[in-house]
Order: sequence, then C-alpha cells, then structure tokens
Amino acid sequence: MLNRLLRMIDYYFRKLTSRSTTLYLKEANKETIEFIKTTNSRVIAEIGTYKGHTAMKIAEYLKGQGELHLFDFEDLVLEVKQKLNGAGIFNVIAHGNSRKTMDSYNWSLMKLLQVRREPFFDYVFIDGAHVWAIDALTFFLVDRLLKPGGYIDFDDYDWTLRNSPSVNPISYPPTKKMFTREQMETRQVALIIDLLVKRDPSYTEVIKNKIFRKTARYAHSEATAK
Ligand SMILES: C[S@@+](CC[C@H](N)C(=O)[O-])C[C@H]1O[C@@H](n2cnc3c(N)ncnc32)[C@H](O)[C@@H]1O
Repeated sequence: MLNRLLRMIDYYFRKLTSRSTTLYLKEANKETIEFIKTTNSRVIAEIGTYKGHTAMKIAEYLKGQGELHLFDFEDLVLEVKQKLNGAGIFNVIAHGNSRKTMDSYNWSLMKLLQVRREPFFDYVFIDGAHVWAIDALTFFLVDRLLKPGGYIDFDDYDWTLRNSPSVNPISYPPTKKMFTREQMETRQVALIIDLLVKRDPSYTEVIKNKIFRKTARYAHSEATAK
C-alpha cells in the first residue's frame, strides 16, 4: 500500500518536473504541407516538431534546398534531426530548449535575433504550446524574423486545454496547477490569431484562421499616427 502510494507520488512528481506528455499525433499537418507546396518558400521553420511527421514532409518539399529550422525541447528536436539525417536530409537546423518550467522556443528565437539582423524566414509553422503565455510572444518574435511576403501558419484555432486528450487536467494533472479554469476553457490559439495577427495591418489572411501572409513592412508608429 505504502509502496503504491510512493510510486504514485513519484509518477506525478516526474510528470510535473519533466513536463513530458504523450501526444496522439501520427501524421503530418496536411493543410500546411499542401499550402507550402503552392509557395516558393526556401527557409522554413516549424515551431513544435514532436516526432517530426510534418518536418519530414517539409524536408521532402525542400528537396535539400534552403533550410529547415526545427524548434522543440532539445531531446525531441535532436531525435527528429537524427531521423531526417538518417533519411539523407541534412539542411536541418535544430533549435532545442530545456524542459525548465519557464523555458521555451522563445529563448531559441531570441538567440536567432541576436545573430540575424535581417528577417530570413519565408514560412513559419507555429504548432507548439498553444497557450497565450508562450505563443503570444512567439508571434512577435517570429514577426521580426519573417520576411515581407512570407507566411505565418498556426495549427489548431479551436484547441483548448480542457479538450486536449494529452494535456487536459485529468490526463495531465499539472495543467490544473498552471492554468485557471478560464484559461483551460479558452481557445488560446484563437486569442493570438484574433487579437494579434488579424489586427496587425501587415498581415493578410490567406487560409481562414490558419495562414497569414506578411504583406509589407509596416511601421506601427505610422499606423497609429494615421
Ligand atoms: C502538437 S505538437 C507538434 C506537432 C508537429 N508540428 C507535427 O505536425 O507533427 C506540439 C509540440 O510543441 C512542443 N512544445 C510545447 N511546449 C514547448 C516548450 N515550452 N518548449 C519547446 N517545445 C514545446 C511539444 O514538445 C510538442 O512536440
């Protein structure tokens, strides 16, 4: 009995500290891949790669040209890079971050901003944490790195923590510690798209609630002066 209790405590402690969850994702994002094929994108980023299903399809589209930048927890992103290398694909740059509570791909994006003065991404697929606390900042960082004419693509407009099989508060109890009830029930990707992307005059919606094109460099000070 005591052993069982200790095992349970150990299990939840590990889950809480490792932030590891099991996702139920088995294939690439078809809409994203079909759309990318209609563009001339050469420098592509996927933020949140998981097992690399979409990354593999993007790499096949690139056919060794350009660059594929992958962002995720270090262990996951290195595994995906290895898988791609094993398939003879070498134009892959892995940007891994730790599993510390306050760490995320936003730190890796900051590092890119330190070394790249000009925007260089043609296409960025944001499919990471899906929460305002992380991805609202991700949008602004990506915007700084995205070329005019480039695309920003979001997965899961309708997603909520409450309805997620992998991180709902029952399958993943730390969610209850990290988010309020309102936050668990709110579509947080939708918040980013509706409040940040759609209100930004330099973005035009090309696929409803999913893909947006950065039309031009647009100074926000000019917008507010008008
Ligand atoms: C939905 S999955 C990505 C699926 C992938 N885009 C695909 O199409 O196969 C979300 C990914 O975001 C990553 N993620 C979530 N929070 C993160 C964080 N704080 N730092 C780094 N990666 C994170 C997860 O590890 C997971 O692999």
